[in-house]
Amino acid sequence: MAEASKVTLSYNDGQNSIELPVLKGSLGPDVVDIRTLGKTGMFTYDPGFLATASCESSITFIDGDLGQLYYRGYPIEQLAEHSDYLEVCYLLLNGELPTPEQKKHFDYTVMRHNMLHDQIHNFFRGFRRDAHPMAVMVAVVGALSAFYSDSLDINDPRHREVAAFRLIAKLPTIAAQAYRYNRGLPLSYPKAGLTYAENFLHMMFSTPVEEYKVNPITARALDRIFTLHADHEQNASTSTVRLSGSSGANPFACIAAGIACLWGPSHGGANEAVLKMLDEIGDVSKVADFMQGVKDKRYKLMGFGHRVYKNMDPRAAIMRDTCHEVLNDLGLHDDPKFKLAMALEKIALEDPYFIERKLYPNVDFYSGIVLSAVGIPVSMFTPIFALARTVGWISHWSEMIGDPTMKIGRPRQLYTGAPRRDYVAIDKRK
Ligand code: CMC
Repeated sequence: MAEASKVTLSYNDGQNSIELPVLKGSLGPDVVDIRTLGKTGMFTYDPGFLATASCESSITFIDGDLGQLYYRGYPIEQLAEHSDYLEVCYLLLNGELPTPEQKKHFDYTVMRHNMLHDQIHNFFRGFRRDAHPMAVMVAVVGALSAFYSDSLDINDPRHREVAAFRLIAKLPTIAAQAYRYNRGLPLSYPKAGLTYAENFLHMMFSTPVEEYKVNPITARALDRIFTLHADHEQNASTSTVRLSGSSGANPFACIAAGIACLWGPSHGGANEAVLKMLDEIGDVSKVADFMQGVKDKRYKLMGFGHRVYKNMDPRAAIMRDTCHEVLNDLGLHDDPKFKLAMALEKIALEDPYFIERKLYPNVDFYSGIVLSAVGIPVSMFTPIFALARTVGWISHWSEMIGDPTMKIGRPRQLYTGAPRRDYVAIDKRK
């Protein structure tokens, strides 16, 4: 991080001014370093972080106007086409693509950690059968800290590494068990010799009486969804993980916090919300009425819009192609639900309301459709996002903990409540 120039902030009283450094990253806009501003007794105000860089990071770069997304410098399009999810995990965690030997060892290590401590299975049985899998995941991932006390020392790089392996490896197992418990299916176990995506499908759908035959189209689509969701710089859930971790909380607790944040419909819950919305609309003939309700601001068009992308979400462009491939391969192009989704996409892309506000379909619009097409139950859409994003969360957490200048996150506020007042005894209150 180099200092590019300086800006001077002058107060209108004509008396004071303060000079602030402007910092230059390797890509992206310059940032004004306001760290010394607090010493003058004044803070900046930026609800929703519309203009605030909360940290320095070398993991992921996004240019929202140009629709660019790079993991460690590699464009997402190239990774989606040529790489696989575990290679992307290695890249995010280590900063470089692995050699063949490193990749083999990494895959082996992740797959070796994917079983759960047998007692963890008791947790699942404590939930109601109709519990949402995200509720189960928040709880079970937080509970991992009660089982893996040999990887909780955040100051030990080896502990951090083992915790990262455990989280990446066990999240699919936890997500699959949450689903199986919900369906009343017996618990399943990971299987050696399968890829990360194949193993997840095996754990979701195999039964003791019938071997699950993985459809390569489904496995490839899922691997791509994992890759596209692996990281997205300082989004709400990643910032939650960083903020939680800044207090020194253990990695399992921090990832549980990230999962909780991701669950919201404005973030990772959007893929599930897209499918619910399609069910509510019901039929192509109802699209115009539905769109009017969106424009009247009675509800949002789920799967559209993004805080950062004001052109096209590059992940959505890739997912759109995958979506058409999968619908063609599975012969589902004429399925009423998918026809409805395509009608919605067309109208939104042509309607001035959406054009003026730069609202384009985001990755969750298409990933929801793909997941539904390949037979994944809707309640599992957000858990799939969570398991894919775990590597991003843990990479950011490790980057932050490894930085010797790390400070606990502690935003300030603009107080607008009552001024100081004296307590009034209850019998004197009106
Ligand atoms: N449908 C209809 N109008 C919308 C939508 C939408 N999905 N998103 C934004 N707008 C309107 C909003 O009402 C506002 O209009 P106006 O200027 O007239 O007041 C304008 O567009 C700007 O919106 P904003 O609320 O300032 O945008 P934001 O950056 O705060 O919100 C967002 C971004 C993603 C939360 C929002 O677009 C949204 O809620 N989208 C639907 C949920 C969704 O698909 N989320 C997944 C995001 S991608 C996956 C991920 O990274 O988590």
